[in-house]
Amino acid sequence: METLKAIKNRQSCRAYTGEQITESELQTILEAANAAPVGMGKYEDVRLTVVQNNELLAKLDAAGAVFFGNPDMHPLYGAPTVILVSNKIADPKQSAVAYSNAACLVENMALAATELELGNVYLMGAVMALAMNAELCKEFNIAEGFVPTSAIAVGKAAAPAQERTLTTTKIETDYLK
Ligand SMILES: Cc1cc2nc3c(=O)[nH]c(=O)nc-3n(C[C@H](O)[C@H](O)[C@H](O)COP(=O)(O)O)c2cc1C
Repeated sequence: METLKAIKNRQSCRAYTGEQITESELQTILEAANAAPVGMGKYEDVRLTVVQNNELLAKLDAAGAVFFGNPDMHPLYGAPTVILVSNKIADPKQSAVAYSNAACLVENMALAATELELGNVYLMGAVMALAMNAELCKEFNIAEGFVPTSAIAVGKAAAPAQERTLTTTKIETDYLK
């Protein structure tokens, strides 16, 4: 089954060639996000921001480096596309739903990107830096009442993905039979 193959091959890519993804690849990834499950079907509570502007990518990269306390690091890894997920979090009690929604969107996008043989990685550190910076949120056009919660970086991987095997032993699992 193709889905299981994508699940097996998906892995975090932290080195990119810099070559931009195509419009058609971007549309496929955005379709995957739109097909993701969202709590109570409230798609109006999530928003996506496709960032392909080099200046903005550099600003996000720099903010992430400050967040991680390492000015030498590049938390976007040189990826040419970052897709931010922002969520409406009117009530702090809704934040679990918001972060779960974001994770569903990002994983769907990651599997679609993997299917397209594009490198990808879930980003949280740089997004936390953005969420804490109101001025930067304005520059990124984050909608009023929305908080950036997660992102995915996508691009052509600088090196081929490693062969992986599926296992049930990475995560401790209790059985109640
Ligand atoms: C919620 C979440 C946040 C993450 N944040 C980051 C991040 O900020 N930077 C990063 O390089 N990887 C990040 N990752 C990727 C994980 O480190 C990675 O998925 C994990 O180590 C397993 O490796 P794999 O993706 O290659 O299977 C994040 C993953 C998740 C699910």
